[in-house]
Amino acid sequence: MRRKLAAGNWKMNGLESALGEIDALAAAHKATQTEIMIAPPATLLSRMVAHAGDAVVLAGQDCHSEESGAHTGDISAAMLKDAGASYVILGHSERRTDHGETNDQVRAKTRAALAAGLKAVVCIGETLAQREAANTIDIIGGQMSGSLPDLATGENLVIAYEPVWAIGTGKIPTLDQIGEVHDFIRMRLERRYGAGVGRSVRILYGGSVKPDNAAEIFDVSNVDGALVGGASLKAKDFSSIISALDASAD
Ligand code: 13P
Repeated sequence: MRRKLAAGNWKMNGLESALGEIDALAAAHKATQTEIMIAPPATLLSRMVAHAGDAVVLAGQDCHSEESGAHTGDISAAMLKDAGASYVILGHSERRTDHGETNDQVRAKTRAALAAGLKAVVCIGETLAQREAANTIDIIGGQMSGSLPDLATGENLVIAYEPVWAIGTGKIPTLDQIGEVHDFIRMRLERRYGAGVGRSVRILYGGSVKPDNAAEIFDVSNVDGALVGGASLKAKDFSSIISALDASAD
C-alpha cells in the first residue's frame, strides 16, 4: 500500500510573512492520512520547522552532488537535513532549463541525497515539442534511466511526472495521457528495481494541479499524489487539494 503524498513546491516564493500559511495547513490537517510535504525556499526552511510540527514534512528544492566544498551558492544534502528537511526535490524542469542540469547530474544529486538520509523526489517530464512529436514515452524512459540511482526503495524515492508544458500554464494533459505515462513509469520502476520496490515507489503528477481538477487527476491509476506549485502557496487551496487526495480511492 502506497501512502499518498501531497507535495507543495514553493519555488522562489515566500518571505517570513508566509509562515502563517504553514500554521493554517498544519492546523487543518492534524489527522490527515495523506503525507503533506512543503518545499520552501532554503531561506525559510529552518524557520518553517516549528510551524510544520508533525503535520507537514519539509523539503529542499535542490542540493549539490558533493558533501561539502568550494561551491559558492550551493547547498549540500546534509545541510538541508540539518535545517529540518526530510525530502529534496531534484531535477525539476526549471533546474534542468535554467541551470542546464543533465540526467547525470540529477542522478549524482539523487545519490548524494539518499546517502545523506534524505528522500528524493525526482522530476521528469516532456516538453510540448517532444509531446507533439510523439516522443513522450521515449523521453520519460530516457530520463528515468539517466536520472535514477541504481539503489532505491519505496521509502526513499518518489517520482514526479511533470509535463513541462503543463507547469504554470493552467493546461493539463488528458486523464488518459496522465494514466499512460504513470503506467509506463510504474512498469519501468518494476523492471529496474524489481516488483516489490517498483510497486512501492510513489508517482506524483505535477503541472497546474488546482482545487478544481485535483479529484479527477487523483482517480487516475498509478497517481499517488501531486507536486503542486502555485496552488501550494495558499493554505486554503493546498488544503482542498490534500482533502481531494485523502478522499480518493486507493
Ligand atoms: P504549478 O502547479 O504552478 O503548475 O507548478 C507545478 C510544478 O512545477 C511543481 O513542481
